[in-house]
Amino acid sequence: MKILVINGPNLNFLGIREKSIYGNRDYWALVGLIEQKAKELKVEVEVFQSNIEGEIINTLQRAYKEKFDGIIINPAAYTHYSYAIRDALASLTIPKIEVHISNIHQREEFRHRSVTAAACDGQIAGLGFDGYLLAMEAMVNLCNKS
Ligand code: DQA
Repeated sequence: MKILVINGPNLNFLGIREKSIYGNRDYWALVGLIEQKAKELKVEVEVFQSNIEGEIINTLQRAYKEKFDGIIINPAAYTHYSYAIRDALASLTIPKIEVHISNIHQREEFRHRSVTAAACDGQIAGLGFDGYLLAMEAMVNLCNKS
């Protein structure tokens, strides 16, 4: 089973940006936790990050070409307005889970809406880095069912 984890803009700045919201740990700590979880679950994982909308879309299309089994995506600020990422997600029939580190529903009004979540099977928000690890467990179950 091959899972692709995609992180959107500014997530490479974890540990630098708004620490009271996103915590002190950096992006590489997050990647390490995801890779460790993949070993435990005996799945392959690729972790990708980009600050550029088109690169995220190209990577979603690559997931189709390279036959990935599932996608975990934190589109970051694109969550709230990128119809292009939503369309790219909608074109894939494999399981997809949206993750947010912070509880977007407790924050500014513009963060309450996700235009991308409707193209995913489910969403996890507000559980910090654990959200990615929980999404990986759920992904294994979803892939085994589909
Ligand atoms: C985020 C929430 C978004 O609103 C924000 O733009 C981010 C990160 C999160 O993981 O909590 O960059 O997706």
